[in-house]
Amino acid sequence: MVKVGVVGYGVIGQRLADGVALQKDMELVGVADVSPTLAIRALKEKGMPYNFYLGMPENLHMFEELGIPVSGTLEELVQKTDIILDATSAGVGAKNKELYAKYNRKAIFQGGEKNSVADVFFHGYANYEKGLGKQFLKLTSCNTTGLIRSVDCLDREFGIEKVAITIIRRVADPGDYHRGLTNALQIDKAPSHQAVDLMTIMPHINATGILVHTPVTHGHIITVVATPKKKISKEEAIECFKKHPRIRVVRIADGFLGNASLFRYARDLGNPRGDMYEIALWEESVVNSGDDIMYAINIPQEAVTIPETIDGIRAALMMQPDRISATSETNKYLGMGKWIQK
Ligand SMILES: NC(=O)c1ccc[n+]([C@@H]2O[C@H](COP(=O)([O-])OP(=O)(O)OC[C@H]3O[C@@H](n4cnc5c(N)ncnc54)[C@H](O)[C@@H]3O)[C@@H](O)[C@H]2O)c1
Repeated sequence: MVKVGVVGYGVIGQRLADGVALQKDMELVGVADVSPTLAIRALKEKGMPYNFYLGMPENLHMFEELGIPVSGTLEELVQKTDIILDATSAGVGAKNKELYAKYNRKAIFQGGEKNSVADVFFHGYANYEKGLGKQFLKLTSCNTTGLIRSVDCLDREFGIEKVAITIIRRVADPGDYHRGLTNALQIDKAPSHQAVDLMTIMPHINATGILVHTPVTHGHIITVVATPKKKISKEEAIECFKKHPRIRVVRIADGFLGNASLFRYARDLGNPRGDMYEIALWEESVVNSGDDIMYAINIPQEAVTIPETIDGIRAALMMQPDRISATSETNKYLGMGKWIQK
């Protein structure tokens, strides 16, 4: 049983912990954070399903006052694990890396860290094999994770030469106050980091893109224009996407009008917190433009990176030899692709 620790119990860390707890071949040793955040208070109110370790021992009195059990220090958690999933605030992971290195432990960092934090910039489907046996992996950001899923899906079946993307990016997560209350769109300098990241992981594809921040919290939407090596019909592209266990092909005609419909549907499914591990792809958005194919995907930013991070555990610890066997295991335990009609 592979022993896993989660450091940083925020938006991503909570979901990583839940995802790892579902893997029958992994044991979640515990989670770590630095102060009694609302997520930690909720953990206590839920009866401490996960052991908690403290990253800042000087804050112990706060936990004692609130009656939150502390199982040890972050350093102790690191020593008890084979691999750490670091989901701390952007930039903190690079500092924590020293601790992971001190005990010669493996670690997977999230998208907010610089690429230089890791040996490999990782995606479970696009470059699983590059992560095999590596000590430090960095996962792609939420948009890049979903974007690469869809482009890799077409690329493996048909070969893709070029993509151009537009990202309508949610400005904050639900419940965030630190970005203010906004009601405006804001444009980033091109090319967007997601397009550049895609080229880092899939260097054979030329990519560029524009990102527009928008004041919504329930997901990003990315439109992709992909130039295939040979023409793909709309129908062929849809069939290809439909077979992918981490892509849910949905229809506007069925009521999936946009990001909010998907969020509601996830809640109707009873998914914890309305999470979706899969990206959604609108069937009616798939169009040919000359020899290019264009489509739109929804990125549920809070949960989309969880499956590929778990693939990262499998790669780093050489649990499976290749992308298909590894992603299949992760998918099985997370219940991914169950919507696909056989
Ligand atoms: N929120 C998203 O939609 C999203 C999506 C994909 C990737 N990411 C990436 O995931 C990472 C985490 O983002 P988040 O949104 O979960 O942040 P968050 O602020 O919700 O959570 C970060 C947690 O780390 C804790 N922390 C800070 N310093 C720590 C330390 N030294 N030791 C232990 N814990 C510490 C904080 O208290 C907080 O609970 C970032 O790299 C981010 O870029 C975020």
